[in-house]
Amino acid sequence: MIINEYIAELKQLLMHERSQAKTIGFVPTMGALHPGHLELMKQAKKENDILVASIFVNPIQFNNPEDLKKYPRTFETDRQMLEDIGCDFLFYPSAEEIYPEPDNTYYDFGALAQCMEGEKRPGHFNGVAIVVRKLFDIVEPDKAYFGEKDFQQLAIIQALVRKLNMPVQVIPCPIVREVDGLAMSSRNMRLSKEARQEAPFIYETLKRAITLFPTYSPEALKHWVAGQFENKETFTVDYIEIADTTELQAVHNWEDASGISLFVAVFLEEVRLIDNIRII
Ligand code: PAJ
Repeated sequence: MIINEYIAELKQLLMHERSQAKTIGFVPTMGALHPGHLELMKQAKKENDILVASIFVNPIQFNNPEDLKKYPRTFETDRQMLEDIGCDFLFYPSAEEIYPEPDNTYYDFGALAQCMEGEKRPGHFNGVAIVVRKLFDIVEPDKAYFGEKDFQQLAIIQALVRKLNMPVQVIPCPIVREVDGLAMSSRNMRLSKEARQEAPFIYETLKRAITLFPTYSPEALKHWVAGQFENKETFTVDYIEIADTTELQAVHNWEDASGISLFVAVFLEEVRLIDNIRII
């Protein structure tokens, strides 16, 4: 695996690959890799000639400076994991390399960026869009892989690619879970032993919730989910939403959309966890 910190060098190397008609699959990450990330890598590796991964903890997508400071950094084990799955190129730039000067681009994603994560984390998706655009410009992938764990982020990237006519195919990948159902996340390592034991309750609740479809209305179902978390004093709900799977807008009747999912964000101790499940 070739590790590169510099844009110009990586571009040169990838240009050489492209000149041999090789296709490039790309998986952008912020590191602290876990098997969820690796599934994206494996799929990208299978569907393309070359796999490029990036590790860059993007400062401008953190609306909370504490969260940025506490973000786990485990470069040596990340590097080893990528070697083991046969990653070809790892792009590992510094913040100075990506942002030689501040990028104040504002992307208007309309309602898509104003609900759920967008509402709770102001500026977050704009920061994600800025860095992903830069990374796509550097790597010029044929296909780029994003997890449905961050369902709204995936929708934002699809909107960005459409908006800017970028020649990249965005591939959604299913959520990878621990055996007890907890969605894998770099944040899980910040959970205490006790909190980690409580955490599977999130997905258990989502699974139980969808058995109540279509008997309960969307509103009643949201209330039911809220009630489940209220009964557990370790959880604090940030939001619960039932929304269509393209615009991510709240639905009030099951007939409002053909694809509908249930989305939650909860605090467990001070760690914020998100998850979602398809209803129809
Ligand atoms: P990060 O949180 O490192 O996630 C990198 C990719 O892995 C994202 O597409 C995310 O959805 C996916 N992923 C994480 N956990 C997953 C799981 N349990 N199952 C399936 N996919 C999972 O998301 C980011 O980084 C950043 O915002 C980034 C896109 C790199 C821009 O900075």
